[in-house]
Amino acid sequence: MKEHISREDAFTLLKQYNKDTFHIQHALTVEGTMKWYAKELGYSEDEEFWGIVGLLHDIDFELYPEQHCIKAPELLRAAGVGEDIIHAVCSHGYDLTVDVKPEHQMEKVLYAVDELTGLIGAAALMRPSKSVQDMEVKSVKKKYKSANFAAGCSREVIEKGADMLGWELSDLIQKTIYAMRSCEAQVQEALKQEQ
Ligand SMILES: [Fe+2]
Repeated sequence: MKEHISREDAFTLLKQYNKDTFHIQHALTVEGTMKWYAKELGYSEDEEFWGIVGLLHDIDFELYPEQHCIKAPELLRAAGVGEDIIHAVCSHGYDLTVDVKPEHQMEKVLYAVDELTGLIGAAALMRPSKSVQDMEVKSVKKKYKSANFAAGCSREVIEKGADMLGWELSDLIQKTIYAMRSCEAQVQEALKQEQ
């Protein structure tokens, strides 16, 4: 991987366009999740790069929800972000708002986990612990099947992502729970520091 924007600059850039705590939390969660997957899938040397893609993937969503993944290249280019990150960010809008297909394994993971982390996070909030630490696949699947639960998290996108990766849905859910467990405390800590 070539040189890219530093993690610190990426976080500053994210906050330039995102003020809503929920959006910052989502970005940090997807960052941590992507980093876990980089290590899990044998891309340890690109762990930070995968994380930065996760951090920046929704950069345009708060201010330009109607132009999601369409406005992102402009914002990222203005900040000097590399084309590899821009491609990855845009590819999570594949078939939704843009025609940029996820090619790299990292892009397929982003596509698959973006909505899923939202659903798992919402399911965690329903638990007494409010945490993913004691959450199991079975309880996520139950929520997943209930169409009214976290209705904004597209099951279609999640399943398409699993297909791209060639994984069973249960496997994707299990891995994503592990990924979210790995970064939960860090995300909470980072959010506290922002308040
Ligand atoms: Fe997202």
